[in-house]
Amino acid sequence: MSSTGYPPQHVAITMDGNGRWANERGLPRMAGHKAGGDNIRPVANMFSEHGVKYLTLYAFSTENWSRPGSEVSGLLGLLEQKIDRETQAFHHDNVRLIHLGRTDRLSEGIARKVKQAVDLTGNNTGLTLCLAFDYGGRDEIVRATRRIVTAGLPPDGLDEALFARYLDGPGIPDPDLLIRTGGESRLSNFLLWQVAYSELHFTPVLWPDFGATEIEEALSEYRTRQRRFGGV
Ligand code: IPE
Ligand code: IPE
Ligand code: MG
Repeated sequence: MSSTGYPPQHVAITMDGNGRWANERGLPRMAGHKAGGDNIRPVANMFSEHGVKYLTLYAFSTENWSRPGSEVSGLLGLLEQKIDRETQAFHHDNVRLIHLGRTDRLSEGIARKVKQAVDLTGNNTGLTLCLAFDYGGRDEIVRATRRIVTAGLPPDGLDEALFARYLDGPGIPDPDLLIRTGGESRLSNFLLWQVAYSELHFTPVLWPDFGATEIEEALSEYRTRQRRFGGV
């Protein structure tokens, strides 16, 4: 379930606009992805300083495999590099890392590093940072359903709370606030189950430029929202 009040306990971000950021500068798209990747730690630290306990970042969707092969391999390479170079720093910052999404289509090397990073930081008590890659909301729901069927759960015993336990981040509260950078106003298959009652914030600012000012703007707008959850 979601919390109410301020600050939001869980913020989720669709980090969009890297390609356009690079285009505007006459740079290759990968330069935008690199700048976007470099923005993750500072943004995570800023949200943590604002009192946010869970931050979920959409890094690579199940649909992003349809991009040109060079961009896909560039993105996955960047991801591996990030894990190599930043896991220790996150660990030092007491951040708990979690992966949302599939691992069966990642290379064995990346899948192993993801697991090591999650294991290493598993007992950290600061920010929980969930990285969604090879993630799709529909795919997650189908995988959860498969696990439920495989476990042989009786249909009558299944309810929303039990179903949610089979999703990728068990125990993680639903996002209170979903932010999308880059100007598009759509979900693009992100956290379909979990955003049922999230507040939505769309900003035209491209992800590599998303910083302290935009964070304060999103949080202060969130503060003015009246969350009713269907009540009055
Ligand atoms: C978001 O930036 C990063 C990923 C989807 C991996 P884009 O690459 O989608 O950037 P735009 O939307 O083309 O500008
Ligand atoms: C959403 O961005 C996915 C990520 C940011 C990882 P896209 O750029 O892939 O989304 P669409 O294609 O504009 O819907
Ligand atoms: Mg995009």
